[in-house]
Amino acid sequence: VSLWRRILDFRGLGFWAPQPLRLIALDATGSAELSRLHAFGGFARGWSSAECEALLTDRVVTADALAGGGKAGRRIDLAAAILSRRAADEAEVLVILVDPSRRRCGLGHRLLQAHAANLVRQGVRTLFLEVEEGNAAARALYAKNGFVTAGSRKGYYALPGGGTATALILRCDLDGSSGG
Ligand SMILES: CC(C)(COP(=O)(O)OP(=O)(O)OC[C@H]1O[C@@H](n2cnc3c(N)ncnc32)[C@H](O)[C@@H]1OP(=O)(O)O)[C@@H](O)C(=O)NCCC(=O)NCCS
Repeated sequence: VSLWRRILDFRGLGFWAPQPLRLIALDATGSAELSRLHAFGGFARGWSSAECEALLTDRVVTADALAGGGKAGRRIDLAAAILSRRAADEAEVLVILVDPSRRRCGLGHRLLQAHAANLVRQGVRTLFLEVEEGNAAARALYAKNGFVTAGSRKGYYALPGGGTATALILRCDLDGSSGG
């Protein structure tokens, strides 16, 4: 994907690019695409299409995405996705993913902001997540969005190459009291 295509997609000016991105609520029709995107996330274990479908049909899961295509029977082109599970007035981010060719263009930030606003509309006041201690990109994204460290779990993640890593538990008060 060329730099120009990325810029035009991000600015919503993709007049020549085939698939300008828009914010969508991801439903079960995006299961295979979500599974494909998850495979590029660098996780030890992938999510199958069936697992993605189970999540996307779970009524307590909110799933938002930035995508192109999907109209008139065209396959959706999933650039970024985020899923959270709600419980009362809290929610936990299950995953946030940006297509590797579209990272560092602001898509992760834009999607996290839109997702948080969507959760607030559903009555969520506090958002939690777990992040691997060594995941510098994700930690910087979360810090930029007002998440603060609430705890840690040593040896929580299995790493793709073997061994384990610490999980940090982060929290963001969506009413702004933790700075988000
Ligand atoms: C983490 C991830 C979602 C970030 O998405 P992104 O679209 O590249 O992020 P953005 O371009 O919106 O960047 C927003 C901020 O995040 C931080 N950031 C993003 N990528 C970074 C990197 N590689 N190194 C350092 N900081 C980074 C920066 O603070 C950036 O703000 P800035 O551009 O003003 O400096 C993306 O790298 C990804 O999909 N990673 C693999 C999956 C993953 O680890 N998910 C998180 C755990 S579930």
